[in-house]
Amino acid sequence: MSLKTVSPFLDMREVQREWKRQGLRVAFEPTMGALHEGHLALVDLAKKQADRVVVSIFVNPLQFGPKEDFTTYPRMLEQDREKLLAKGVDVLFAPTAPEMYPSGYQTYVFNDEMSKILCGKFRPGHFQGVLTVVAKLFHVVNPDLSIFGKKDYQQFKLISKMVKDLMFDMEVQGAETLRESDGLAMSSRNLRLTPAEREIAPRLYQAMQSLKAKVGNGQRHIPHLLKSFSEELASISQLKLEYAEIRDQIQLDDLGQEITKPAVLLVAAHLGSVRLIDNLEL
Ligand code: PAJ
Repeated sequence: MSLKTVSPFLDMREVQREWKRQGLRVAFEPTMGALHEGHLALVDLAKKQADRVVVSIFVNPLQFGPKEDFTTYPRMLEQDREKLLAKGVDVLFAPTAPEMYPSGYQTYVFNDEMSKILCGKFRPGHFQGVLTVVAKLFHVVNPDLSIFGKKDYQQFKLISKMVKDLMFDMEVQGAETLRESDGLAMSSRNLRLTPAEREIAPRLYQAMQSLKAKVGNGQRHIPHLLKSFSEELASISQLKLEYAEIRDQIQLDDLGQEITKPAVLLVAAHLGSVRLIDNLEL
């Protein structure tokens, strides 16, 4: 088993064209690296459904705001390579920023609705950066299938919508969130939690589960559910809730006051210097 690493996008395109000539089915997993079990679970799912699997690692400057953690985002390409090799990934595509965004770059993918709610409200331009890079990567890798983690629920929904609206000839799937044994959703950013913060972090998911239990017991009134959710977290001084919302599962539409159809709880919180996001289908 060998892992081919390619950087220039023209080389990636060459590999992909050869596979297509051979009639092979290609799956593609875009990532920003610092790979954990959550990423690797997507690779496992992709391998089951395709003849070839490409993983990209690119910390995309376009999706970070000026005050966000682009420079401190963990980078560990060599360890990532080893993990991908062990998983039997065929190609690691690791483009460079000057190649992705040469000087004079002008073209972006913009969602006019769903990108403005939830994380989009607090990270202006973030989803434009995500959609633009994912569209570019899709064009180069030309996959038949790409699987996204529901950990980033809004991102998964926005990418599915882009593929539909812009008529990409490929399939997008969502995969369940992988969690640590104490419930914390796996994330590359967890590496930057201090030991004390790491101990507090699972409290977010515990509060989410207790909200879900209330819904299971028949509570449907969204403002009440969210009020007791934020009260449960208010006692944790280090944790600052950014938003908590309950929306419909299909297109993240506003549900008004009552849960009347399949819903999802979506939350973001700051813990020290780390921004955590999580969600739970109710
Ligand atoms: P990144 O955060 O590296 O995540 C890459 C993929 O792994 C995404 O589909 C994400 O949802 C998934 N993932 C992350 N943590 C997960 C977990 N605990 N369980 C399951 N899947 C998980 O998301 C990005 O990178 C970027 O925005 C990207 C799409 C690559 C565009 O730059």
